[in-house]
Amino acid sequence: MTTRPFIVGNWKMHGTRSMLSEARAIDRAAERLIKVEVALAPPFTLIHAVHKEAGLIAVGAQDCHPADGGAHTGDVSAIMVKDAGASFTIVGHSERRAGYGETNALVKAKAEAAIAAGMSVIVCVGETEDDRAAGKHVDVVTRQLKGSLPDSDGAAERITVAYEPVWAIGTGNTATTDDIAAMHAAIRAKLVALYGEVGEAIRILYGGSVNAGNAAEILTTPDVGGALVGGASLTAESFLGIIVAAAERDEA
Ligand code: 13P
Repeated sequence: MTTRPFIVGNWKMHGTRSMLSEARAIDRAAERLIKVEVALAPPFTLIHAVHKEAGLIAVGAQDCHPADGGAHTGDVSAIMVKDAGASFTIVGHSERRAGYGETNALVKAKAEAAIAAGMSVIVCVGETEDDRAAGKHVDVVTRQLKGSLPDSDGAAERITVAYEPVWAIGTGNTATTDDIAAMHAAIRAKLVALYGEVGEAIRILYGGSVNAGNAAEILTTPDVGGALVGGASLTAESFLGIIVAAAERDEA
C-alpha cells in the first residue's frame, strides 16, 4: 500500500461548472507533484465533469445511498457515482451524521455499498466539543470506528479513515499536534484490533481547518497520512499550498 500523503478536497455544497477551471488547475499542478496523491470530492452534479478534466487526480463523491437503486427520491447510489467517474466516496462526514441523523450502522452500510461497487471509501469520524470537554473523545471515536467500518478483511485495503474533530471543522481551530498524534494512535490501535496487520497500512487523514499555513506541521505529525480539506480546497491557489507542503513533508 502506498505511503504517499493523500490530500483530499471536499468541496461540500460548493461549486457549479464555473469551478471546473479550479479543478483543472489542481490537476495540472498535481502532475508536477507526483509525491502526493491528490483527490477532489465535488458535489454529485460535478463528478462527471471533474472526472473528464482530471488526468491525474482521483474524483470522488461526498456520500452515497447504501442501496443499489430503488424508490429513494433525491438519493444517489454508489453504483451511480462510480458510473459518473468516482473512484471513491466519503461516508460518515459529521455534517451528515449531525444534519441527517446518520448512525454508525448506516455509515457502515454506505461504506460496504461503495466497496461492493468497486470504489474505495473515506470513513469520517470525530468527536464534538462536548465529548472532548467530558474526556470522552477517544471512546466516541473508537465506537464510531467499530460501528462504521466494514467487517470484511478484504475491505481494509480500500479504506481510508479521516479524523475530523467536529469543533475544528470550518472554525479556524485546529487540534494541537499532540492531540492529533494521540487520537491517530488510538485510531491505529483500533484498526489493528479490527483488521490485524492490514490495519497498520490504512491511512488516517486529519481534517478540520487545514490550510497552507498549518499543513506542514499537521502533515509531519506521527501517523498523519494526509488531510481532508474543506474550505481551503475551493481554489487551486489555497489547495496547492497544502499539496506543496505534503510534497515537502518527506524532505523535511
Ligand atoms: P474545513 O477544512 O473547511 O474545516 O472542513 C473540513 C472538512 O469538513 C473536510 O471534510
